[in-house]
Amino acid sequence: MKALKRSPRGSSTAAGIGAYREAAGFTAVLRPKLRGAFLLHHLTRDDRPDFILHMSSVAAVFPALGQADYAAANYYLDHLARALDTPEHRVVSVQWVAWREVGMAVAAGVNEDLAFRSLRTRDGLGLIDAALCGGRPVLFAGEINYDSDLMSVLPTYDVALSANIEDKITTGLAALAERTKQNLARVREAVESTEVRLTGQPDGEYTDTERMVGRCLAHALGHPEIDVHADFRDLGADSIMALTIGNSISSCIGRQFDAVDLMSERTVVAVARLIETKYDADVRGDDGGGDDDAWLDELLTMPGE
Ligand SMILES: NC(=O)c1ccc[n+]([C@@H]2O[C@H](COP(=O)([O-])OP(=O)(O)OC[C@H]3O[C@@H](n4cnc5c(N)ncnc54)[C@H](OP(=O)(O)O)[C@@H]3O)[C@@H](O)[C@H]2O)c1
Repeated sequence: MKALKRSPRGSSTAAGIGAYREAAGFTAVLRPKLRGAFLLHHLTRDDRPDFILHMSSVAAVFPALGQADYAAANYYLDHLARALDTPEHRVVSVQWVAWREVGMAVAAGVNEDLAFRSLRTRDGLGLIDAALCGGRPVLFAGEINYDSDLMSVLPTYDVALSANIEDKITTGLAALAERTKQNLARVREAVESTEVRLTGQPDGEYTDTERMVGRCLAHALGHPEIDVHADFRDLGADSIMALTIGNSISSCIGRQFDAVDLMSERTVVAVARLIETKYDADVRGDDGGGDDDAWLDELLTMPGE
C-alpha cells in the first residue's frame, strides 16, 4: 500500500449477522456474507481495486456452540482471500474478535473480555492498516485473555498455536486449576461446617452419603432440618440453586458431579443412592455387572448363525 503513489482504492465486506441461530435461520446468516463477497468479486473482476477487505470473525477459527452458520460464512471469506489475494490486488480477510466500543458485539452485549480481550476501536483500525500493509491474506486479530477461565477451551480446538502461546495457555491453565482447587476446598470446608438435622427415616439412621447431601442442601438453602424424602423443589431449590448444590457435592466427593442429575434425582435419598451407584462406581471402575457390548454382538450376528 505504501508503494502506491496515489490514495488506495478498496472495498470491504461488512454485512453480517452474528447471533446464535435455529437451523431454519442458517441461510439467513450465511447469505449476506457469501452474497456480498461474491458480488464484490464479480463486479470488480475487470477493474480490480487495490484491496478488498473481508470482515471475518474469530468464529471461523474458534466457533462457539450454535455458530456453525456464522463460522461457515466467515470461513468462506477467509477462503476467498486465500484464493484471490495477489500483491497487486490485495484480498485480505481479518478474523476479528469482539470490538469493545462499536458494532454487533456491543449490540449483543458480548463486548467484554472473554477468552479473548475485546478490541478498542483505535486498535482495530490500526490492525486494518497492518493487515492491508502486510503480506498475509488471512489474519487473526485478537489477543488471548490469559486471565480468563474461558481460555481453557482454546486447546480443545484443532488449531495449531505457536509454542509461545501454548506455554502461556499451559501456565494460565495451571493457575486456573489451582484457583479451582482452592475454591472447591473453600466450598467443602463451608459445607462440612454446616449443621443440619435429617428426618424421614423411621429408624433415624442415615448413611454418610445422605448426611453429606443433606449438608450440601442445607448449605445452599439454609434449612436447619431436611426430610430426606422431600422433593428439592418443595424445599425451595430451582435450576440455578441446583448448580450451587451440584458444585458443593462435587467439592465433597472430589470429582465432577453433574448438576443435571438433580433434575431427575430430587431427594436426599435419591441423590445419595445415585452417588453410591454411579459416581462411586465410576471411581471403583465397576461395569455394573452387565455386558456393555451385548448389543453390538447381537447386531453383528450374521443371519442364520
Ligand atoms: N463487531 C464485532 O465485534 C465483530 C467481530 C467479528 C466479526 N465482525 C464482522 O464484522 C462485520 C461488521 O460488523 P459490525 O459490528 O459493523 O456489525 P453491525 O454493526 O451489526 O453491522 C452489520 C451490517 O450488516 C448489514 N446487514 C445485516 N444483514 C444484512 C443482509 N442480510 N444483507 C445486507 N446487509 C446486511 C447491516 O445493515 P443494517 O444496518 O441495514 O441492518 C449492517 O450495516 C460483520 O460482517 C461481522 O460479522 C464483527
